[in-house]
Order: sequence, then C-alpha cells, then structure tokens
Amino acid sequence: MAYPESTDSTSALPRHIAIVMDGNGRWAQQRALPRTAGHRQGAKAVRRVVQACSERGIEALTLFAFSSENWRRPQWEVDVLMKLFAATLRSEIDRLDKANVRLRFIGDQRAFSTALQNYIVKAEQRTVGNTGLALVIAANYGGRWDVVQAAQRAAADVAAGRLQPADLTLESFQRYLCLADLPEPDLFIRTGGEQRISNFLLWQLAYTELYFTERLWPDYDAADLAEACAAFASRQRRFGQTGEQVAGAAHA
Ligand code: FPP
Repeated sequence: MAYPESTDSTSALPRHIAIVMDGNGRWAQQRALPRTAGHRQGAKAVRRVVQACSERGIEALTLFAFSSENWRRPQWEVDVLMKLFAATLRSEIDRLDKANVRLRFIGDQRAFSTALQNYIVKAEQRTVGNTGLALVIAANYGGRWDVVQAAQRAAADVAAGRLQPADLTLESFQRYLCLADLPEPDLFIRTGGEQRISNFLLWQLAYTELYFTERLWPDYDAADLAEACAAFASRQRRFGQTGEQVAGAAHA
C-alpha cells in the first residue's frame, strides 16, 4: 500500500491543515453575549487564519464550518449561521480571489437555500483557476457521510461496468472521497478544549497529527497557528514504521 500522499516524516511545514473551529458559543457566554456574537467573531478568526496560512505557504486549509449534526441546534442559531455563511462569502470573495485562494465546499449542499447554493457555486467557479491556498469549507459535512457517498459512487461505477469489484482498493476507493485531489491533512487542530474528531474527515485523518488547544475559536490568531505548526514540526511521523527507521531515512 502506498503511504498517504502528504508531507514526509521530516517536513517541518504541514501541507494541509484541518481545523475544527470550536468555542464560539462559550466565547460569547463569557461576555454575556448571544451565541451568535461568537459565530460572528469566529468569522473574523477565519479571515485571520486564512491569511496566516496563505502567508506561511500552506497548500490547503480545511475548516469544519457546519457538521451534519449541527442541524440539531436551535432553529434560530442555524438560521443565523446560514445567513453568516452567505454574508461572509459575499463580503470575502473579492479579497480571497485577489489573494489567489481557491475556494471549495465539501458536504451535502442540497439542504442549503437556493441562494446559498448559488453563492457557493459562483465562488467556486470564480476562484477555480487560482493557484494559492486551497481553502475548503466543510458545510453539512460528516466523515461517515463522505465514506457512504464514496461507496455509492463506486457501487454505481461497478453497476455500470466501469469498475470491477476486485479493482476497488484503498487507492482507488479514496478517489471517490471528498478531497481526493489534495494531500491528506498533516495537522488537525481543534480549538475550544474538547479532544474529539466529531465525525470530521474520518478517512483522511488516518495518519494526521492531532493538536488540541484550549483557545476558543473567536480568539484564534496567527500566533496560535504558529504555535500549532511548531508543535507539528517537533513531532516524528512514522506512518507505521519504527522511530529508528524514520530517523535513518531522514539522515540518509
Ligand atoms: C462551533 O462552536 C462552531 C460552529 C458550529 C460554527 C462555525 C462557524 C464559524 C466559525 C463562523 C464562520 C465560518 C465561516 C466559514 C464563514 P460552538 O458554537 O459549538 O461553541 P461552543 O462549544 O462554545 O458552544
């Protein structure tokens, strides 16, 4: 089996960072503000982190903006989040395009309003030729959903005679998953103190370094990202090998 196409064990800079942006509600509660104020402040943190990743030369940044489970939140909070996504897309798209960012959404967008779906398509089309940071927004996304939609598409190819069941391998199956064209995340960051993956990129995180911080997402900034990258640089990635093998290969 091939190793994930990603940073090798000695690279100091993650090529792909995936973030669970948690703590918006608590940030607001600490200030006696409505939870939605935390989400609005969280959108500002998104802008800071996108800029910091662009400046650091990170290839891809995947942000968990709305999980398939977030529909269970109070309706008013879901409504505010949807409006915030649309408003942020509208207000940021010029800046993102100018910064050479390629924007993409993953997740089942059929549940979104037609207006939001249109903004998403337009933003993706407008930035598709950009060559800088690949910014992926996971919205109505779940890691299990991703595996199931991949299995459905692979099964459709088998039914149509385009694929033999025996040809379905780890490598060929992963091509049906979201993010198949990007290196797998090297670094996973979760803010807000919880230490869970919460159905984010389940398949893609198999070899990812996990980093948890107490910092609440609305406070997250370039210095926090630098700290996470420094922690990543100090880790030894083994991909199943021994520490000695990895150290030997680094010095070869
Ligand atoms: C989790 O915090 C955060 C969310 C479910 C929403 C994330 C949305 C943003 C950061 C807003 C802007 C995003 C984009 C892409 C424009 P929480 O509400 O669960 O916090 P808590 O755990 O403190 O309650």
